[in-house]
Amino acid sequence: MTQDEMKKAVAEAAVEHIKPLLESDTIIGVGTGSTANLFIDALAAVKNQFAGAVASSEATAERLRGHGIEVFDLNSVDQLAVYVDGADEFDPHMNLIKGGGAALTREKIVAAVAKEFVCIVDSSKKVDLLGEFPLPVEVIPMARSYVARELAKLGGLPVYREGVVTDNGNVIIDVQDMEILDPKALEQQINNIVGVVTNGLFARRGADLVLMGTPNGVEELR
Ligand code: 5RP
Repeated sequence: MTQDEMKKAVAEAAVEHIKPLLESDTIIGVGTGSTANLFIDALAAVKNQFAGAVASSEATAERLRGHGIEVFDLNSVDQLAVYVDGADEFDPHMNLIKGGGAALTREKIVAAVAKEFVCIVDSSKKVDLLGEFPLPVEVIPMARSYVARELAKLGGLPVYREGVVTDNGNVIIDVQDMEILDPKALEQQINNIVGVVTNGLFARRGADLVLMGTPNGVEELR
């Protein structure tokens, strides 16, 4: 099985997982990235069974609309039954690194509102300790250099992601070689740096369920 086939298998498994939640007034949260895109494509088959979705990025909103799935503003929604999204890394405690696609802030907001967070990944994303994937941090542009210096004090090597502007008009710093022994504490510590909008650690609100595509099929991890 190729990586793309594993991603497609988890995307389809996620649709099967959420089917019992779908009612005429159900609104779901949808993430960003290549695995989330495959989920959106699979979701199109059941689009008449629920009201619509809240998107975690402009790209996701466009893809949902392309399939005829209504996109709601999060401010008009009280609760999301489920949020389905990919990840760049996940550990055995369901902590994640996200933001490889620069959508981390909206992803974190939509995940916060959802009752259940279903993370869809292929087996290459599984790690014992987070941090091999550089940790993305969304930053207000004028604070970029200051935040980079503060991130260096925490032991990481900050690298400006050239040419990327987020949907919120901000920039991304990727932190390499960060030792992430306590993901919840580090998530909070980075959030406390003035100028940081969000960081890509999803530990305080990690995944509730990981669906992982492997060459032998989809595994459910809780
Ligand atoms: C985007 C993300 C994605 O979920 C993450 O980058 C994984 O993407 P893919 O499914 O393409 O591997 O956090 O900001």
